[in-house]
Order: sequence, then C-alpha cells, then structure tokens
Amino acid sequence: MAIELKDNKFHMFNDEMSYIIEISRQKDLLNSYYGARIDAEDIEIQSNLPGAFFCHADDNAPSYSLSVLAQEYPSAGASDFRSPAYEITNDKGMHTPELKYKSHELVKGKPKISGLPAVYTESDDEAETLIITAADEFYGLEVRLFYTVFEKLNVICRHAEVKNCGKSDMMLNNAQSVSLDFPAGEYEYIHLEGAWVREKHIDRNNVHKGIQGFESRRGASGHTENPFLMFFDKGTNEDYGNVYGISLVYSGNHRFIIEQEAYETVRVQAGINPFEFSFKLSEGEVFTTPEAVLVYSDSGFAKMSHTFHKLYRTRLCRGVWRDKVRPILINNWEGTYFDFTKDKLLNIADAASQIGVELFVLDDGWFGHRNDDCSSLGDWYVNEKKLGCTIAELAEEMNKRGLKFGLWFEPEMISEDSDLHREHPDWSISVPGVKPHLGRHQLILDLTRKEVREYIIGFLTDILNNANIEYVKWDMNRNITDVYSASLPFNRQGEFYHRYILGLYEILETVTSRFPNVLFEGCSGGGGRNDPGMLYYMPQNWASDDTDATERLYIQYGGSMVYPASTVGSHVSAVPNHQVGRISSLKTRGTVAMNGAFGYELDLSLLGEEELNEMKEQIKFYKENRELVITGDYYRLLNPFTSRHSAWMYVSENKKEALVYYVVKTARPSNETVYLQLKGLNPTAKYNVDGKIMTGRTLMNHGVIIDDTEYDGYCRIIRIHNI
Ligand code: DGJ
Repeated sequence: MAIELKDNKFHMFNDEMSYIIEISRQKDLLNSYYGARIDAEDIEIQSNLPGAFFCHADDNAPSYSLSVLAQEYPSAGASDFRSPAYEITNDKGMHTPELKYKSHELVKGKPKISGLPAVYTESDDEAETLIITAADEFYGLEVRLFYTVFEKLNVICRHAEVKNCGKSDMMLNNAQSVSLDFPAGEYEYIHLEGAWVREKHIDRNNVHKGIQGFESRRGASGHTENPFLMFFDKGTNEDYGNVYGISLVYSGNHRFIIEQEAYETVRVQAGINPFEFSFKLSEGEVFTTPEAVLVYSDSGFAKMSHTFHKLYRTRLCRGVWRDKVRPILINNWEGTYFDFTKDKLLNIADAASQIGVELFVLDDGWFGHRNDDCSSLGDWYVNEKKLGCTIAELAEEMNKRGLKFGLWFEPEMISEDSDLHREHPDWSISVPGVKPHLGRHQLILDLTRKEVREYIIGFLTDILNNANIEYVKWDMNRNITDVYSASLPFNRQGEFYHRYILGLYEILETVTSRFPNVLFEGCSGGGGRNDPGMLYYMPQNWASDDTDATERLYIQYGGSMVYPASTVGSHVSAVPNHQVGRISSLKTRGTVAMNGAFGYELDLSLLGEEELNEMKEQIKFYKENRELVITGDYYRLLNPFTSRHSAWMYVSENKKEALVYYVVKTARPSNETVYLQLKGLNPTAKYNVDGKIMTGRTLMNHGVIIDDTEYDGYCRIIRIHNI
C-alpha cells in the first residue's frame, strides 16, 4: 500500500487497485482514475472539448474546461454544470466558490472523525491517509478532503471538512461525502430498495442520461432506500466485472446520485441529502461530512461483498461482542405482543432453556401502562402491575433458568399519553402551535436538545445499572415530520436533521461505552435504520419485521451485498406467518433464520414435544456452525430475485470448511435437475460432502446435484469439510 505524489499526481494504490488524483496546472483537483491497478505516470489529463457551449477555466488553455473534466470535489457556478459536491453562500449572497489545491499531508493509519461513526484501524500499518486542502481565498473557504487507503483491502474511505476561514458567516447548503467522475461508458447500478417488512430488495438498472438515484428524506436512513450503491460495468455479475460499492456511514437523510451527462461521462455522489439541509458556519467553524466507504472489486459482486463484510465486521463494529458468536435468543414480541404476564414469560423461558436458547429478550410493553402502542413511551419505569415484579427480579428468574436477560427500549420516542409528555410538552419534535403528525400514535424526542439527550442517557444508565441486563434492543418506530427545534434559531433550523443524528450518536457512544459488556441490537421497525452508522455502536441489527422464511430470502440476499451475516438479526416465528400468512415448515424457517444472529420469536410454551425437539436440533446445529456463519466468506449461489430458488454458502478463510444452504422458493412440476455449483473452495483439495469425497474443482464446476423431490420451502444444508 502506498500513497505517492509524483508529477502532480497523487497515486493511492495497493496491489489490485489505483486511485489517481491530479493537480492540474490550474490547481484544480482532477479525479483522474479509479479502478484496477495501473501506473500513474502513464496517464494524462484528457480535456478535449467535444463541442461549443463550454466555459473555459483557463484563458491560456481554451480547451481546459471544468464542464467536462473529471473532478474530486466539484464546485457550483464555476463552469461545471453537473451536480456540485458542495454549495455555500456567503453573507452577501455570493455562491460561486472555486476550490484550488493548497496543500496536503500524509498520515499513517486513519484519523478518527469526531462525533461521527467511521471505519477504524487497530494499527497504523493497516492504512494510510491523504488529506488534501483546497481553498477559495476570495470566499475564505477551505475544504479538507480525506482519503484513507487500506493495505490489505480494496477500500478507500472518504469524507470532507468544510471550514469558514473568513470573518463573516456563511451558509453551507450541501456537502457530499464523495464525488467520483467515471469516463464515458456503459454502466449499471444496484440499490437496495424496499418498504417496511420488505427491505433491501435488489433493484438493478441501466445508467441512462440525466440524473438518477435514490435518497431518504425521513430523518433516518430508512426502510425504503439503504445508504448503499453498487455502480458497475454493464453485464457485471457475481464473479466478473468492475464494481464500485459505495456505502455511507450515516443513519440520517442521505442521497445518492448518478448523473450521466451529454458526453456520456458519469458523476456519482453520495452524502447527506441537501433536502432541507443548511449549516451555518461562523468564523473558524468546520462542518464534517459523514464517511463514505468505497470498495472496488475487479471481479464482480462477490469480491466486493467479501471486502465489505470483512471491513464492517472487524473495522466498523466495535466492542467485546465484535468477534464473539452471538447468543441464540428468544424474543416474546410475535409470541405475545403486548399481552403477557410474568408467568407467561417464564413459561416461554422454561421451554427456551430446555432447547438450548441462551438469551431471553423482553420486548415492548413492560413499562408505564403500555398495553398497546398508544401510550407510555418516555415513561421508562416497569409496569409492576402487569409484570408482578421488577426488571431486576425478572432478570434473576431468567438467569436461574440459565438464560441471559435482554430488554427492549425505544429511547428516542415519546407518547402523548405519557408522564414525560405531560411534564415536558416541548421536548417532542413539533412546530409550536401546529398539531404534529403522529406515527404509530407517537412523537419523537428532540435529540438536538442537550437536556433531552441527558434524560435518555440517564434513564438507560439507571435501568442497566439496576438489573442484570446483558442485551438491549434499541427500536425506533416512526420517521421525522414537523421538523422544528425550539433550541435552534431561525437560520439554524436547516441543521435539524443532521443535529438529530449527531445527538443520537452522542447518546449511543455514551451508553455503549458505559455498558461495554451489553450486546446492543439496533432496530427500527425492522430494517428502518439498518446502516453502517448504527453498526458502529451496535454490532447487530434486526434486519426486518418480516420473519417469513421466503420473504427473508430476498431481504437477506439483498442485505448480503454489503452487510456481514454477523450483523443480521434473524428469527424463526410462528405459522401462519404474521406478516404474509404463509405456512412454511419449521425446517425451512430454521434453515433461513440460521444465517445471522439467530433466534426464535414465538410462544414456545404452546409447542408440542416434536417441534421443540426439532428446534433443539436446529440450535445444536447452529451452535456447531455459527463461527463459520459469522466469519466465513459468503458466496451467493442462486438469486431468489431472478430464479425460483435461492442458495448461498460460507467458506472458512483456510478453505477447509464450508456450509451450503439451498432453499426452493417456488416448486414446479417436471423440474430440472439442479447442479449447484459451489464457490470459493480450494480446487485441488478433497472435500467430504455428506460422506462422498469430491475435489473442490468438481464441486465448483460440476456442482452438487440436488435431486430430491421439491416443494415450496424444500431446503437442504450441506456441510463440507476438507479431508
Ligand atoms: C418494531 C420492532 O421491529 C419489533 O421487533 C418489535 O420490537 C416492535 N417494534 C415492538 O413495538
């Protein structure tokens, strides 16, 4: 790995990848190349103007135009008509700054980003960071662009700092984390779209002329668009083609755009959504963008996913649970919803401990007078009338049964029917004098306010200090409306969405570091905030409120593009399934749910011996294999979006162990024989496949024959080991 500056070119490279920035004679920062490894000295700026109607940026070089040149952090109003990476307005209303290279520094490792989640290094040898300062002296503006290159992974982390170096205030109206300009070509892109209970679905498109993209305006990363983009050469598949994955380490409003202009070049940007965004910068103040993680793969989607998985599992997630296998849990939500008593919970716990479950999670409804979703959020004291004991006593009961105990919270929320709201009616987000819009009968606390953040940290600290709580589920069940904060002056209201997320990160940092041994699982009505920002604080995330096995095939397939299995909360629930009414066998439900942080979410006390025994076997199997699920390289074999079945596998780093999953989504008569071609094995090594010895190359080229009778949900798990 190295970052070199030669002939005015910064070359960031490792064995497989190059990223080249050129400082032009005019001091512009040009985005010269990003892709497979090349030699920087061989390339030159291409600035042939293809026609008229260009403005040139250098009177002595009329063909030099920012309208067509590839740039690192393009300005608005200075002859580039494409999407700018940032926008500012000074106190006189001027808004045409033009950044020119000023200086740079190289640092070992990766500097922390204060107040924001980010990928990290554990030793300075893992990465190197280039910081380029560009400035516009007239506007008193300075922008620092950060690029961290990893030695062993094809990863570049980017973010920017925008500083007001002048005397007067300026407004920052847009600040993207990354801007990339790709040469003319035929490209496609994938984003993970969806809705509540249908998250992270693959949507693959051709890049076409004009602006396309996706965004969130919800105050959260959202169920509808995950903050992740795959941009790639047309025709790329799992194993072939150039892919650029861009993942934004941010949990708030985001925007990704892909802009193909008249001359076929393509600009790709990701960052905070400029929608209703502005940030006032007074003299000397700095705005820091979230981090964008760029992963390059020269051989298709699988390699890109492996890089993201490894990076996010080991250098984004933190804490004692980062490298540990996760406890198998029983959550009472779909089993009881709000209708539980202590006895009912203990009956479930008894059955759970018999079959080998390790953690009991008490979900919503344990506090205030909450027996439905209309009240009590904010009143975080136990409903002893309902539960008949304190939380500490309940935790003890669980511990006696050999189970850890975990608790559900929705800390950011407030019900109108709550003591907290009666006491602090101004703490919720709303426009004074205007009736706010409720979502799930609730309002959201204004996390831009210090006293609100202190209140949340305070009650969580008290509860976690006073009972043996070893797991926390952190939920968030509505999006932000009625945006206004009484704590911000009128010219800072545009900072609200971002300040909310900064407030959330401050709370999460405080609470998770105060309770380092607690396992935190992020949740937002399932996958409403399933993003890398949350993973920095909580190493797992409840991937979706949809627990149906077939639906989960899509959700887990899409999510696997970027998120490692260790981060995916996944449970077996009852049938008929509560979201789609489908009846799947316990075998199918277990097979699908075992691909992540595994658990059960149903009333186990209602089940017969046969089902409990089957679960006991599932748990035994999962315990034997969870290390591989969490740390193995993940290969997608059959795509449920484009075929009637789905298959995937995990391969250990030393290629000695593998675990293959195959599930029929929809069976059909007169079926073909399925030759399931495996991936990632050692071609010449011999493997034992259910007692049959085969070489890696046979398994990968000929495949495993799936010859049993099929039916909807038919599934197989094949364990493979090297002999
Ligand atoms: C939404 C979550 O995703 C569910 O798992 C459950 O915790 C409910 N909220 C509780 O209200």
